Amino acid sequence: MKRGLFITFEGADGCGKTTQIKLLDKYLCSQRYTTLLTREPGARGLGEKLREILLNYEGEVSPMCESFLFLADRAQHVDCIIKPAIENGVYVLCDRHTDSTLAYQGYGRGLDIDRIKLLNNIAVNGLKPDLTIVFDIDIKTSLSRIGTKKDRMESAGIDFFNRVRAGYINIAKQEPDRVKIVDASDTIDNIHKKVVELVKQL
Ligand code: TYD
Repeated sequence: MKRGLFITFEGADGCGKTTQIKLLDKYLCSQRYTTLLTREPGARGLGEKLREILLNYEGEVSPMCESFLFLADRAQHVDCIIKPAIENGVYVLCDRHTDSTLAYQGYGRGLDIDRIKLLNNIAVNGLKPDLTIVFDIDIKTSLSRIGTKKDRMESAGIDFFNRVRAGYINIAKQEPDRVKIVDASDTIDNIHKKVVELVKQL
C-alpha cells in the first residue's frame, strides 16, 4: 500500500483556512484521491470531549494545562486516526496541528518554544506533516470575521493574536521546505489556486 500524505492547515482564528481545506478536499476527491478531512482539537470520539473543555470551560486554565490538553487531543488523534489513515494511502487534511500549539501556547501565551517543540514531538511520536499551509492575514480583519460570539480562545485579545501571527511567520522561516505562507486577504478562488499549486508540488 502506497503511503498517503499529511497536509496541515494553520493560521490565526478567522483566517479562512476552514473554507480552503474544504475546497482542497473537494478538488482532491474530484481527482479520485481518498481523503480524510479532520481537525484539532475535536476529531471524533474523545477529541470532541477535549474540544468542549478547551473552547468552553469558563474557569481559570493555566497555559501549561491548556498545552497538555491540546497535546492529549493530538496524541489520541495521531495514534487512532491520522497514522492509520496515512498508512492506508489516504490524503489526510488536518485543520490545525503541532504549529498551532507552537504559535498559540508558545508565541501567544509565552511558554518556552523549545519545550513546546519537545512536547509536540512526544505527542506525535515522529509524525511530521508533508506540507503545512499557513494562511496569513491582518489580525483586525480576521477578528472582525469572527464577530461578537467568541469562544475561550477567540477571546484572548488583539495583542495575543498579533503574537500568534508573528509566531507563524517565524515557524515558516525556520522550516521553509515544509511550511508555506499564503496571503489570506486574496479572493477565495485565488487562494484555492495557490493551495492546489502547493499540493501539486508535493
Ligand atoms: P476552532 O473553532 O477550531 O478555530 P479555528 O476554526 O480558527 O481553527 O478552535 C480551535 C482553537 O484552539 C483556536 O482558537 C486555536 C486554538 N488552538 C490552540 O490554541 N492550540 C492548539 O494546539 C490547537 C490545535 C488549537
